[in-house]
Amino acid sequence: MKIAIVGTGYVGLVSGTCFSEMGVDVTCVDVNKEKIEQLQHGMIPIYEPGLEEMVHKNVKAGRLHFTTDLTEVLDEVEVVFSAVGTPPDEDGSADLKYVLEVARTVGRNMNKYLVVVTKSTVPVGTAIKVKQAIREELEQRGVTLEFDVASNPEFLKEGAAVEDFMRPDRVVVGVESDRAKESMTRLYRPFMLTNDRMIFTDIPSAEMIKYAANSMLATRISFMNDVANLCELVGADINMVRKGIGADTRIGQKFLYAGCGYGGSCFPKDVKALIKTAEQNGYEMQVLKAVESVNERQKSVLFRKFVNHFSGDVKGKTVALWGLAFKPETDDMREAPALVLIDLLLNAGVTVKVYDPIAMDECHRRIGDTVVYCKDMYEATVDADALMLVTEWKEFRVPSWSVLKKSMNGRVVIDGRNIYERRELEENGFEYYKIG
Ligand code: UDX
Repeated sequence: MKIAIVGTGYVGLVSGTCFSEMGVDVTCVDVNKEKIEQLQHGMIPIYEPGLEEMVHKNVKAGRLHFTTDLTEVLDEVEVVFSAVGTPPDEDGSADLKYVLEVARTVGRNMNKYLVVVTKSTVPVGTAIKVKQAIREELEQRGVTLEFDVASNPEFLKEGAAVEDFMRPDRVVVGVESDRAKESMTRLYRPFMLTNDRMIFTDIPSAEMIKYAANSMLATRISFMNDVANLCELVGADINMVRKGIGADTRIGQKFLYAGCGYGGSCFPKDVKALIKTAEQNGYEMQVLKAVESVNERQKSVLFRKFVNHFSGDVKGKTVALWGLAFKPETDDMREAPALVLIDLLLNAGVTVKVYDPIAMDECHRRIGDTVVYCKDMYEATVDADALMLVTEWKEFRVPSWSVLKKSMNGRVVIDGRNIYERRELEENGFEYYKIG
C-alpha cells in the first residue's frame, strides 16, 4: 500500500514514519525545501524519543521517502493525508489556508480515485470545505473523478509520540463511504492485530472528538489547579486529594496533576478554537472559558509564591529555573508556562538563570540573552535566592540537596510540579513551596 502525508511537523512525520515501520510505502511531503533536504539526509527537525532511529531504518529499507512535490506521487498513492499546520487566527479560530491548499493541489493534479484524509486538528465542517475545494478544482479541469474525504484526528502526545502512534488507545476515522472505510481499515490493520480499536464515525463527529478530548483533558487540569489553590487555603493536600478522587474508576488516576499550568501546541489552541466554533454557532462554552482563564492565572502561581516569600522585596534577587519546555521529553516551548514566569521575573528586576536538558536553544531563539543560560542544573543554582522547578524532567527528581545548600544563596524551593518531598527538603534546611 502506498500513501502520501503532507506536512512534516510532529503529526505528519511521526505518522509517516510509523506507517512505514508497518510496511506501508510512505512519501512525506513538505513545502519547506530545507526541511525536506535535511530529512533526506537523516536529520530530524524535532526531538522525539525513538523517532530518529525509526526514520533511518525505514529510509534505508526504501519505504520512507521525502519530497517537496506532492504531484510526483499522486498517481501512485491510495491515500493522501493532510497533516499541515492549523495555526490560530487572530480571533482564536483555526486558520485553514494550508489544509485547503493541500486540497486544491490534489484537485488540480489527481488522475484517479483517492481518499483525502485530514489528520490536522480542524474545526467541525472542514472536511466539507476540503471536498468542495477538490471538487472545484476538478470542475475547472473539466474532469469527473471519484474521490472520498475522511477525518482521522491524531491523539499522539509529544515526548511519547512514536509509542502513542504504534500503540494507540483508539483510532478514530470519520468516513462517508464504504470504499474509504475499507482503505482506512487496511492501512491501520497492522496496529489493530492484538486489539481492534478502530472507531468509525460520521465526519463531523470525528472532527469534534479531537476538540472534545483535548478540551476535556484541559478541563481536568484546570479543575485540579483550582482545587489545589483551594487546598492551600483550607490546609488540604492536593496529592492526597488526587489519589482519593482518582481511585474512583469513573474519574481515573490520569491527568489529574496540579501544576503551574498546561501549555503546548494543542490544549491552549484547541480550547480557544472550540470556544470560537461555539460562538460562531451562537453558543457559549462557559466551562471552557473558565478552563482557559484558570490556566492563565495558574501560569503566574510560582511567581506569586516567590513574591510572597520575600514579602514583595524581589528586585535584585536571583532565581534558578529548572525546565523550560512545556513538558518533559520535548524541546517544544509553545505556550510554555516557563515563558510567562520568566517574563514576570524579569519585569520585577530578578536575574533568571535557566537550565533545560533539551530546550535551551529553543529558549534562546525565543527570548535571546534576557536570561542566563547554564550548562547544567547545578550551575543554574549558583548564588540563587530561590530554585523554581517548572518542567518535571527525570534528571531533576532527586537533586543533591547538599550541593544546592553550598551553591545557593537562599534556601527556597518552589516546586511547580509537586515532585519533591516536603520532609526531605525541610530536613535539609530548605523552605518548600508546592502547588496545593
Ligand atoms: C495533548 C494530548 O494529550 C494529545 O492527545 C493531543 O494529540 C495533543 O495534545 P501534548 O500537548 O503533547 O498532547 O501534551 P500532554 O502530555 O497532553 O500535556 C499537555 C500539558 O498539560 C503539559 O503542559 C502538561 O504539563 C500539562 N499537564 C498534563 C498537567 O498540568 N497535568 C496533568 O495531569 C497532565
